[in-house]
Amino acid sequence: MQTRVKQTPASTQHHDGNSKFIEGERQRLAQEIHDGLIQELTGAVLQLEICEKVYTKDSSQVLAPLILAKKQARKCLHQLRRLTFDLRLTAVKELGLVKALRRHCDELSQEKSIAIAFKATKAEVELPLSIAGSLYYIVREALLNVTKHAKARRIQVRVSFDQQQVMVTVQDDGIGFDVEPTLAKAEEEKKFGMVGMHERAHLLGGNLHVLSAPQSGTEVTAVIPYAPDRSAAR
Ligand SMILES: Nc1ncnc2c1ncn2[C@@H]1O[C@H](COP(=O)(O)OP(=O)(O)O)[C@@H](O)[C@H]1O
Ligand SMILES: [Mg+2]
Repeated sequence: MQTRVKQTPASTQHHDGNSKFIEGERQRLAQEIHDGLIQELTGAVLQLEICEKVYTKDSSQVLAPLILAKKQARKCLHQLRRLTFDLRLTAVKELGLVKALRRHCDELSQEKSIAIAFKATKAEVELPLSIAGSLYYIVREALLNVTKHAKARRIQVRVSFDQQQVMVTVQDDGIGFDVEPTLAKAEEEKKFGMVGMHERAHLLGGNLHVLSAPQSGTEVTAVIPYAPDRSAAR
């Protein structure tokens, strides 16, 4: 079994304003809006059109599509609230990184019916929002990848703090992948999920390690320094 580690070389650690993680973030948002909001709203409009058509013929037929349209509009509202909640990093600000991640894992575990074990070292260090927020997004993206690609049965998320740095790992027992060629191809296809995770980590003076091989599961670890004397840890 061959296991490969991908670490973006130091030469790519300088960034211009058109950062790929912003691009990745945009794509993720666009996807989420497309899969959720647009589909629900399209459904609602369709139901309202049915109402319009049947109203003059038989007004008793209006109720069912109307109720459905209301349900779909409510779903949209719920999704919009969740989206703005995520964008403002409300969970991280209110709960801190560890609790926010734990909650996300619980929600995702329920939503996708997959076991997610969450572990964190007891002593949580209070992190600047730039670090906590980035780690939160990195873990979310890594978990999204597991649910999208891995066919995993189990996921483990671990958060640990030492005196200098915070380390977060997302590990799955899924199908795994050949890291170098897959990520090169993903970048060519303008899929910036993983690239964005690397960038986020590098921007904070940290690193992202991706350990995977076909049939061997995947482990994604972000290590970010938070010691105040590190100028990179803004
Ligand atoms: N946990 C995982 N298990 C299996 N394959 C993965 C996993 N995470 C990422 N991949 C592979 O890496 C590729 C790149 O991921 P990413 O950059 O996030 O793009 P996307 O998720 O949009 O395809 C994925 O298309 C997939 O082939
Ligand atoms: Mg992805």
